[in-house]
Amino acid sequence: MLGRRLYTTAARFVTSAKPTNGFVGAIGNTPLMRINSLSNETGCEILGKAEFMNPGGSVKDRAALFVVEDAERRGLIQPGGTIVEGTAGNTGIGLAHVCRAKGYKCIIYMPNTQSQEKIDLLKMLGADVRPVPAVAFDNPENYNHQARRCAELLENAVWTNQFDNTANRQAHIETTGPEIWAQTGGKIDGFTCATGTAGTFAGTTRFLKDVSGGRVKSFAADPPGSIIYSYVKSRGKEMIRGGSSITEGIGQGRITENLRPDIHLVDDALKIPDSDTIRMLYRLLDEEGIYLGASSALNVAAAYEMAKMMGPGNTIVTILCDGAYRYQSRLFSKKWLESKELVGAIPEHLKKYIVLA
Ligand SMILES: Cc1ncc(COP(=O)(O)O)c(C=O)c1O
Repeated sequence: MLGRRLYTTAARFVTSAKPTNGFVGAIGNTPLMRINSLSNETGCEILGKAEFMNPGGSVKDRAALFVVEDAERRGLIQPGGTIVEGTAGNTGIGLAHVCRAKGYKCIIYMPNTQSQEKIDLLKMLGADVRPVPAVAFDNPENYNHQARRCAELLENAVWTNQFDNTANRQAHIETTGPEIWAQTGGKIDGFTCATGTAGTFAGTTRFLKDVSGGRVKSFAADPPGSIIYSYVKSRGKEMIRGGSSITEGIGQGRITENLRPDIHLVDDALKIPDSDTIRMLYRLLDEEGIYLGASSALNVAAAYEMAKMMGPGNTIVTILCDGAYRYQSRLFSKKWLESKELVGAIPEHLKKYIVLA
């Protein structure tokens, strides 16, 4: 009797998934989570692709794997070679993992304004981290240009160039998009997420548009300070800059090569202020038990807006890019929230989560 009850309980957790081929094989096939509170409130199905469950902890594991395997396929790197990238965040973490798993060395250039936590994490993952002065993209000393030059000077090395290497968007055309389509059984009406390199947004949009014959609507979500919103709204006539955001890993000042081929497929854009992002971040923690970084919270806020615009009965999917672990010293700090004038955006009953001074 007892044995039978134990079996019934365990069966809920048993899936037919076979062992993966190491770290690399564990990338992707993430769950699609129904955001219950927002779905019930709007009468839509609001679903988040749980990319924080990738083995390196973010959506960027997919791009990291695809840019490395693209270099392998094109014969740009041989066993024991070096991957070089300019990145301040999750792509570097994904690359550092993939490089260890495949036996490559990994060199990461990043602006020297980044936290010691990030530098230490990359070093712990075996990367050679090179902080350089934080200067604009048009300056030859920008971290991306330094990464390119470094790869050019080394034997058996490649600069993976995540912003303009379209192997990045290909990851989402071949994996994220098809997974979402299969997980919804094709019952999806809208997709939205923000853009950094735009690999995730453009690749997923491209697949969903193709497979649905253009039926699935795609809205670009944008933080303050990024040009994507004005570019989409003006149909390419304007790129309005200015402003800044608490979000990390998203926001863009140009149309990357990952976005360029698909920008005409985008139906609309949503600008999400930081006050909405932080409110959603605390709400998702309280109501759903999901601990997300700010770019994910912005994405869910955009999906919530899109649901209200499209009306009840629609299914909207977004991306839960990473967890709050890498940002918690800021996102849950009273002092930091005050410095960003965001304490007032958090409802009284959620202020108990501001646990750090
Ligand atoms: C936390 C986070 N969210 C979102 C993104 C954006 O993803 P993409 O580069 O595919 O546009 C990134 C990119 O680095 C990220 O680190």
